[in-house]
Amino acid sequence: MILHAEIFLFPIEILLQTIINEYLNKSYCLTLVTETPFDIVIPISFTYIIPYETGNLTNQILEVSEMGCSDYIVKMREPKKFMVSFDEVNHLGNTRRSDRKVIFLPYDENQIGLQNLLDILKMKPTKFLANLLLVLPISRNISGCILYDLVSHRFVGPDEKSAQPLYIDRWNSCTRKFENNSNLFPHDMTNLYGKTLKVAGFTYKPYVLLDLDPTVEPRGRDGTETRIIEEFCRWLNCTIELVRDDEHQWGEIYENNTGVGVIGSLIEDRADVGITAMYSWYDEYVVLDFSTPYIRTAVTCVAPSPRILASWEMPLLPFTLYMWLALLFTLIYASIALTIAQGCSSDRVLLTTFGMMITQTQYSAGSTWRIRSITGWLLISGLVLDNAYGGGLASVFTVPKYEPSVDTVQDLVDRQLEWGATHDAWIFSISHSQEPLVKQLISLFRVKPAAELRQKSLTRNIALSIERLPAGYFAVGDYITKEAMLDLTVMQEDFYYEQCVAMLRKSSPYTKKLNQLVGRLHESGLMIAWETQVSLKYLNFEVQLEVRLSRSKRDIEIVEQLSLRHVVGVFIIYVTGVILSILICIMEILVKRKQTIQE
Ligand SMILES: *[C@@H]1O[C@H](CO)[C@@H](O)[C@H](O)[C@H]1NC(C)=O
Ligand SMILES: *[C@@H]1O[C@H](CO)[C@@H](O)[C@H](O)[C@H]1NC(C)=O
Ligand SMILES: *[C@@H]1O[C@H](CO)[C@@H](O)[C@H](O)[C@H]1NC(C)=O
Repeated sequence: MILHAEIFLFPIEILLQTIINEYLNKSYCLTLVTETPFDIVIPISFTYIIPYETGNLTNQILEVSEMGCSDYIVKMREPKKFMVSFDEVNHLGNTRRSDRKVIFLPYDENQIGLQNLLDILKMKPTKFLANLLLVLPISRNISGCILYDLVSHRFVGPDEKSAQPLYIDRWNSCTRKFENNSNLFPHDMTNLYGKTLKVAGFTYKPYVLLDLDPTVEPRGRDGTETRIIEEFCRWLNCTIELVRDDEHQWGEIYENNTGVGVIGSLIEDRADVGITAMYSWYDEYVVLDFSTPYIRTAVTCVAPSPRILASWEMPLLPFTLYMWLALLFTLIYASIALTIAQGCSSDRVLLTTFGMMITQTQYSAGSTWRIRSITGWLLISGLVLDNAYGGGLASVFTVPKYEPSVDTVQDLVDRQLEWGATHDAWIFSISHSQEPLVKQLISLFRVKPAAELRQKSLTRNIALSIERLPAGYFAVGDYITKEAMLDLTVMQEDFYYEQCVAMLRKSSPYTKKLNQLVGRLHESGLMIAWETQVSLKYLNFEVQLEVRLSRSKRDIEIVEQLSLRHVVGVFIIYVTGVILSILICIMEILVKRKQTIQE
């Protein structure tokens, strides 16, 4: 009975059944793109697609791809159309699978030598698919047995050969055996035999440093992220080739699916991996693959340090506003009391009360006990208030007083202080925020060339963004100099924090391996060690120290000597008083004269 049943199976079906049992039994879901049903047992979940036309095919594949089907068996008259749709789906869909498998079957089994299928190897989308298998019927011998060649592309090794066919094995339909029993999906990404890995990046300390002196660093590059890629290629035996577009830095993606900078290189497939402080930006996630995050960084600013307060305010500082109001009311109240005590005579009342409040001796002690009791108590309170003021003034003079500092985002927004950097990648992470405060923060952001930032950093009207890294160092642009840092203070509040990732083409075969590596790096704590090593070796240590200590700088100047600056305020009050008196004097003379003329 069993024999009888097998007679009705086509040889290709037997081969397919073998392959499925052996290699696809762990697949999450399998899709068969074919017009004719197969008579095979599929041990996993699967779905059929009957292809009609290309546009439609894309939608059909998109649907199953979004459900998580990453493995395909294709039997089409024009298999190239599948590859085109397959790549379109990769860009349209949201599902990312690093380990997809595609098997192409001949459309017509009797047709020998299928150039149609071999042409697939030359297509661009094939370059990004590691596990591809072509089943090619090659000959029918006398006994009617068909030989099938199992072919893939070289994929690993030198670039010029990577699209060439790689003959893996041969299957005989009569013996139902493989000739070599080799692995039909050999590209498991464990050894790339020197395949070029194109890496997009630019110099941004301490993540990536390029063009270093070869006598110091033989490869001429270093940096925390560069080391990840170096380690990756040491592990997978690949060769790094740098793709550079330094001018555009992180770059951007245009509407027409082209772009510049690191992101643009990835979109246009000029690069396989993009590094250099790439945050997990939503807009990029939609079109690219992200690796596991490896650096947690926080963005904040160095803002102008608070200055010592203007000196004319100093005489007012010992008392608060309410205290001054209380004093004013005391003066009024005491004057009224004195007026009543003197029998409703306002003679010299204001002058006497004021004099007593600033502990001045009195012209006379008063004629009655009624007046004496009021002036007595007033003298005592005047004594206390005067001493309190004196004590306050001493502290105001000796302990320097600063204007409010820029510590939080709210401070920055309240002060309408602009903040700047060389690229708007700094606000990608927050640009979709609906929060009013963040929106205001974004409106204050300015993109300026490094030279202009360097010049503006000395003028106290811009804050400059920096990154707070996990090991305690700072990613500081070169335009923030040691001299500028003297008058800048790092803000206390972070604007936001971000996870740095490496970006790759969607469903790139490298993603899975890179994630494994990042897991190992985290496990071993190497990321922190690398940050420290790179920072100590290449960053300007003085600037690092100044940024780190900028908040404690002010604690050092605790007591200062008195200088003219401290008393300028008092003189200002005196001069104002004198000017006012002169004006009033002139007015009185004028009014007097008018009255005289009228009389
Ligand atoms: C899948 O096939 C391999 C090779 O035949 C076998 O060792 C493994 O147990 C199978 N796994 C499952 C889940 O069937
Ligand atoms: C790495 O690739 C080179 C070819 O570039 C090859 O000669 C070498 O054997 C490979 N190394 C390992 C460990 O397989
Ligand atoms: C894509 O758009 C950008 C900017 O809009 C333009 O500079 C570029 O030439 C366009 N590229 C193509 C191929 O249309």
